[in-house]
This record gives sequence, C-alpha cells and structure tokens, in this order.
Amino acid sequence: MDNQTYTENLNRAPEKEPERQQYFMELLRNLAEERSRELGRPLTACIQTFGCQMNAKDSEKLMGILKEAGFTESESEASDFVLYNTCTVRDNANQRVYGRLGYLNSLKQKNPDMVIALCGCMMQEPTVVEKIKKSYRFVDLIFGTHNIYKLAGLLYRKYAEKGMVIDVWEGPEAIVEDLPSERKYPFKCGVNIMYGCNNFCSYCIVPYVRGRERSREPEEILKEVRALAADGVVEVMLLGQNVNSYGKTLKTPMTFAELLKKVAQVPGIQRIRFMTSHPKDLSDELIAVMRDCPKVCPHLHLPLQSGSSRILKAMNRVYNKEQYLALAEKIKREIPELSLTTDIIVGFPGETEEDFEETLDVVRRVRYDSAFTFIYSKRTGTPAAAMENQVPEPVVKERFDRLLKEVQRISAEQCKKDVGKTMTALVEGMDTHDPALVTGRLGNNIMVHFPGDASDIGKILPVRLLSSKGFYYMGERA
Ligand code: 5AD
Ligand code: SF4
Repeated sequence: MDNQTYTENLNRAPEKEPERQQYFMELLRNLAEERSRELGRPLTACIQTFGCQMNAKDSEKLMGILKEAGFTESESEASDFVLYNTCTVRDNANQRVYGRLGYLNSLKQKNPDMVIALCGCMMQEPTVVEKIKKSYRFVDLIFGTHNIYKLAGLLYRKYAEKGMVIDVWEGPEAIVEDLPSERKYPFKCGVNIMYGCNNFCSYCIVPYVRGRERSREPEEILKEVRALAADGVVEVMLLGQNVNSYGKTLKTPMTFAELLKKVAQVPGIQRIRFMTSHPKDLSDELIAVMRDCPKVCPHLHLPLQSGSSRILKAMNRVYNKEQYLALAEKIKREIPELSLTTDIIVGFPGETEEDFEETLDVVRRVRYDSAFTFIYSKRTGTPAAAMENQVPEPVVKERFDRLLKEVQRISAEQCKKDVGKTMTALVEGMDTHDPALVTGRLGNNIMVHFPGDASDIGKILPVRLLSSKGFYYMGERA
C-alpha cells in the first residue's frame, strides 16, 4: 500500500471506538482478499500465548480481530502474521520469547511477506523494547497490554510503513467494548470482569505492566455472558488479578459476590469459575454465595505466596500466617467439598530456613488439592529487586524441591479421598492418549478420563471416579 492511500484512508477513519477499529478491519480484509488472490491461498495468522488466563483471553480477542481482518487461523508459526502475546511475571517467560524469536526469523527468511508482532506484558517494559529494537530488528510490530483493541489500526499502519511500528502506552484509556473475540472452546469461555491490579506485592511486576485496577460495568459483563450462553457456552470463568475487589471503583459500587449472583441467573450458564482471589479481600458474603449457589464451582484458588508472617509483610501481602490459616479453615468448614489451590514463591529475599519451614507448615495444615510453586524471580523496578539478602540459587533450588515433593504428596492423598464418588464433569475434548476416552473437568477443577466419544464434548455428564492417578482420575459414566 502506498503512503498516499494510507494517509487518505487514515483521514477517513471514524474517531469513535469500536467503529474506528471496525473500519480498519474492513480495509485489512480488502487487502487480505487481494493478496490471497495473488497467492492462490488464504492469508494465515498464528498467535502464541505465554502466561496466564488474562493473556489467553486477550489472545481470543486478538484472533477475533484477525479473523475479521481476513486472516485464517493457523497453529503453525509458518504463517503470514505471527503474534507472540508475552508474559513477564518471571524471567523464564521472557527468556522463552527471546529463544523463539530466532526461529521466527528463520521462517521470515523463507516468507518475506511475513509480519512478526509482539504484544503483552513484556512489551510494557522499556528495556525489553530497547533490546528488541537493537537485537531483533526483523520484528515488525510491537504493542502493549493497554491497546490490544487497536490491533487492526496498527496492522494497517504496518502495511504502509517500512520500519518497526511501536505503540506501547503507559496506562489504560477507557475500556473499549463490543469488539470481536474468537473462542478457543465452543462450550467455555473466560470473561474479563476487571483489569489491572492495585496491590503492589513487592515481588510482582503485574501492577506496572497491567496498570491500575479498573472494573467493567456489570451490565457489560452480563451482556457478554448472556451472548455467550445464547451461543452455547455453559461454563464461564470470571477473570481479574484480584476478583475480590471487583466493583469498588464503579460509579455504583457492587461487590464480587453480588456480581456472581447475577451471573448465576443467566439462563444456560451452568458453571461459574473465577480467578484470582487475594486472601485479604475474601469476604464472608463470597463464601456464602459459593456455598449456596450450585452453579459456582467448588474450587478456590487462594495464593499463599509464603507461610512466614515476616516474609508476607516484606511481600506487602497484608495478611499474616494466622489470618491465612483461619481463612482457609473457615472456607473449608463452610464448603467441605471445596478444592483449595494456591501459588507459592520460594526464595523471596531474606527467606531463611525458618521462614521456609513456616511455608511447609501451612502446606501441611491446609492440605492443598494442588499448588503452583515458583522460584522467586527478580523483576527490575519492583521493590523486592532492590532488597538485600537475595537467597543463593542452590539454597532456593533445594527448598523448591522439598516443597514440590510435599505439595505433590499431599495433593495425591487429597485426590484419593474422592475415589468412589460420582461427580459431574464438563467434557472438554478427546483423551490425547486413548481414542476410546474423553477428558472432562470436574467442578473442583480436577480432570477425569472416561469412556466416551466426540459427541460428548461440551456436555456436562455424571461420572463415577474409579481410581486416582495423583492429580487426575480415571472414571466411568454414572
Ligand atoms: N517471582 C516468582 N513468582 C512470582 N509470581 C509473581 N511474581 C513473581 C516473581 N517475581 C507468582 C505469584 C503469583 C503467580 C501468578 O506468579 O505466586 O501468584
Ligand atoms: Fe501481582 Fe499481588 Fe497483584 Fe497478584 S495481587 S497481580 S501477585 S501485585
């Protein structure tokens, strides 16, 4: 596309969103049609997602835009448009992206038309963008977490400009609603209820790369959930960095528990999950809704991070060991069938053997159904990165291995306790190892494999749990 056409079209673009993006999607569609006629094949787009559920949801929105813009979705990175939606919560996520960029470059040598784009949390860090500008000059487009809805406009600009297009915003603008989204599964879907985080845990980079906490209007959330239900979705996962503080900043404030009750009233929605809860804001009202509303799944992800009150204080978590234990006990008392999962960081600066023992103690007392364990990763710009007493690597590794063993031992025991029971499972797909089996997710988030066929996918079925395999079950239709 020549520059003049680009400028003329740019001048004609509506100011308002989402109309502006829809306009660019149409222009891109025309370009894509023209190009695929020349090539004799459709233009393909591939998105690789790193990191959390938020990123997975963002990727669905990005793919929705790309499809409207005339691309065909592809799993292969040998595509005409490849986008890495990156994560920067721990350094190993960053390293994986750098590692794979070299491979993308080799693909681009074979297809000079290929457009390589990077977005997501890593791009919000100025040092990362500098490094890419210097050492990965074959990258065509960079944008951040606050302007993913602008993909169509940015890509259109890329087709007109020669160099690398970079558009990273420091903070969010208004929340833009009503853009397309391409669901990965027909029967379940994540729904953003809020963006950003205000907690500033001292190790965590999320508040810096995702910005301040903003809640979506309940009516917008419910409109989306109703549309999903009408389209065959039976399970929704409400997404936010800290869902328990949902609604505090709305013009008409609303609690997360109230929102859950409203979502539960949407006909067709049979299961509701949510991620993530911060222990400091978990209300009795929420526990009551989880207990009394059968649609809300009996699963709570309640990140502990550390069992040591001293370390929790340094982490700025705002609760101590005793408060966490009391909360876990209360929840389990109210909802005995609840499965409780967590995140734990090992090797936070200044962590001593005694602090680590406190973490093991909480793990043994709470008996998590499963736990994600992480080695502390120093994130530039966070308060913890400047702390003295960073723990030596061999000490952290040794503690990490001990913790992992304990977590796995306990979760295997926890898993055994439900053998023989009948529960309902949402069938998510065929078993990848045995074509006679399907794989379903129980309400408590544990997977079960049982005899079935492709026609069962998307159905919620009763399953008897026959045996436990540590962190999943084998079962049969009940
Ligand atoms: N190092 C290690 N783990 C981290 N997490 C967040 N920041 C860091 C870090 N700097 C973990 C926390 C959080 C999960 C999503 O990632 O446990 O709950
Ligand atoms: Fe990071 Fe803490 Fe916010 Fe979670 S609550 S995203 S760990 S700052």
